[in-house]
Amino acid sequence: MRATAIAQPNIALIKYWGKRDTERNLPAVGSISITLRELYTRMHVEFDADAVADSLQVNGAPDATMLPRLSACLDRVAGGDRLRARITSESNFPIAAGLASSASAFAALTVAGAHAAQKTLSIATLASLAGQASGSAARSLLGGFVELENRGEDIAVSALCEPAEWPLDVVVAITETGPKAVGSTEAMEISRHTSPFYQSWLEQQPHDLDIARDSIARRDFGRLAAIAEHNCLKMHSIMWASRPPLVYWNAATMRCLQTVRKLQGSGADVFFTIDAGPQVKAVCLPEHTQAVAAALRDTPGVVDIMISGLGSGARLENAR
Ligand code: DP6
Repeated sequence: MRATAIAQPNIALIKYWGKRDTERNLPAVGSISITLRELYTRMHVEFDADAVADSLQVNGAPDATMLPRLSACLDRVAGGDRLRARITSESNFPIAAGLASSASAFAALTVAGAHAAQKTLSIATLASLAGQASGSAARSLLGGFVELENRGEDIAVSALCEPAEWPLDVVVAITETGPKAVGSTEAMEISRHTSPFYQSWLEQQPHDLDIARDSIARRDFGRLAAIAEHNCLKMHSIMWASRPPLVYWNAATMRCLQTVRKLQGSGADVFFTIDAGPQVKAVCLPEHTQAVAAALRDTPGVVDIMISGLGSGARLENAR
């Protein structure tokens, strides 16, 4: 009745922004991501016949804010009539700051919850359950390059390329450690209802996905870099043109972009991507990682750097 699972966050290269069904949390567009190796969330779920309510500890401290979303996820995984659960979560990176903490948290929770409830679920079912909790979480079930497709009434995840088949590094430049002002769930709805660019975003996404898929298959870094940066800036343009505007960047975010442009000018194989937060993720070939990390560390306003390779999908650590 207890299980521990670990999952790594993922960074989207072709972004998920917008929902076609808010009830079932179905994304309006497909997306492609890379799963990281060095950052993690470990979730322990213990069903307890004596507990009267679910409880949650995050990095050693009780957390009531996230609990309802986690409880709802466990209800879907184990059934509404399940025993109450003690949930413990531990992460080695800032939570809710645009570093995909919900992706690794819900991927790990879904896997741990299923095992604690003694259910053997397929990847398709796990993806659907994790995705209902947080769209991007479905992608953290798999490692390396992962595609999330909208298929009929549901979603499907598939691995496009294993981490060892194309080892890339990601340098995360942290420019702010506090939680973001507007969570992505709410921000996506603001964009859907108010951004004049939202419709063309939906129309263009299949093309961006095709280019990215093909670039990954051919290991064409330059082509992947161009489409990933374009897709990221397009997503932020939708946000900026929303009402109220959604501007997640700070001055250091912009400076990091300039640093990446300079590195590219000096011949480094690197590109940037930014999610719903002010952090900049620089994706590069491993021979450039040290130079990219040094340049971003020296960029004014950068408070910390994290370096990660590509990792595997969510997995069970132990169950009893
Ligand atoms: C900008 O998966 O956090 O990181 O489904 O509402 O929980 P919900 O959204 P979430 O959104 C991720 C948005 C993004 C882009 C991406 O990861 O594809």
